[in-house]
Amino acid sequence: MARKKITVVGAGHVGAHTALWLAIKELGDVVLLDIVEGVPQGKSLDLMEAAPIQGFDSNVVGTNDYKDTAGSDVVIITAGIPRKPGMSRSDLINTNVGILKTVVEGIVKYSPDAHLLIVTNPLDVMVYAAWKFSGLKPNKIMGLSGALDGGRMRSFIAMELGVSMEDVHAMVIGGHADEMVPLKKYATVSGIPVSQLLSTEKLDAIMARTKKAGGEIVALLKTGSAYYAPSRAVSEMCEAIIKDKKRVIPSAVYCSGQYGVSDMFIGVPAVIGANGVERIIEIELDSSEKEAFNGSVAAVKNLINELNLGK
Ligand code: APR
Repeated sequence: MARKKITVVGAGHVGAHTALWLAIKELGDVVLLDIVEGVPQGKSLDLMEAAPIQGFDSNVVGTNDYKDTAGSDVVIITAGIPRKPGMSRSDLINTNVGILKTVVEGIVKYSPDAHLLIVTNPLDVMVYAAWKFSGLKPNKIMGLSGALDGGRMRSFIAMELGVSMEDVHAMVIGGHADEMVPLKKYATVSGIPVSQLLSTEKLDAIMARTKKAGGEIVALLKTGSAYYAPSRAVSEMCEAIIKDKKRVIPSAVYCSGQYGVSDMFIGVPAVIGANGVERIIEIELDSSEKEAFNGSVAAVKNLINELNLGK
C-alpha cells in the first residue's frame, strides 16, 4: 500500500512537533512547509536523523514551495502567529486570517482532494475562513478543539484522582476559547462518572481550569503558546482520517442545523474517518450546558461577523 502524504504548514512549535508525532506513528510521509527559508528544511533533516534511532520510516521533507505539497491526503495548518501574554485568541484574528488565505490557496491548488485540519487560532473562525477560502465541501475541513481541550481536562482529572491518564475520558464542546463548555456528566474514569469520585467543588475547579488551560500555558511560557498537547491532539485527528478509524472526537466541524447551529463551525462530537467529518453526534445537554453552548456559539458568530474575507 502506498504511503499517505501529510503536509504540515507552519514549522514552528506546533507544526514541528506535529511532524514528529506523525513520523513516530508512521502515518505517512510528511512535508513540512514554512514561509521562513531553512527552518522547515533544518527541522525535517533533524527529524530524519532521529528516524534510525526511534525506528520510523516516514520520509520527512522541508520546503518553502507549495509544489512539494502536491497530492497530499491530509494537510494540517498551524501557520500563524501564536498568542502572547494578555492577548485573547480574537486579537490574533486579522493577522492570522491573512496568513490563512495565502496558505489555503497554495494548498488547494496542489492538493484539491486533501482534508484540511486547522490548528491556527482563533480556531473556530479560522476553520470558517479556511472553508470559505478553499471552496471545499465542509466534511473535508475541521479544526482542533475538543481533542485538545478534552485532553487537558482528562489530565487534570487523572492528576487529581491519581489514576491512569488512559482511563479518564472527558468531553468539551463549543468554541475553542474561554467560552468552551466542559461537560461534567460525560467525564468518566473507566466508565465511572467522575461525579462519583470527585466533589462538585473539585470538579467545578477542574472545569474552570480547563477553560483557561491554554492561557495558563501562555502565562507561563511568556513567549508563545502550548505545543506538545496541541500537536499530539491534531495528530490523533489525522490518524482517524488516515486509518478510517471512525473516532468520536469533539472537533470544530460544520453544523447544518445540529445543536440548533447553522452555517458555521463549532466544537461538537463528530465521527472522523476516511471521509473526514462523517457524522455529528447530538448528545443530551441540560439547560445550563445548552445556555453555555449557545453563548459560545454567539461569541464565535460575533468574530465571524467581524471577518473580512476579502471576497
Ligand atoms: N506561510 C507559512 N508559514 C507561515 C506563514 C505563512 N504565510 N506565516 C507564518 N508562518 C509560520 C512561521 O514562520 C512559524 O514558523 O508559522 C509558524 C508558526 O509557528 P510558531 O510561531 O512557533 O507558533 P506555534 O506555537 O506553532 O502556533 C501556531 O497554532 O496553537 C496555534 O495559537 C497558535 O495560531 C497559533 C498556531
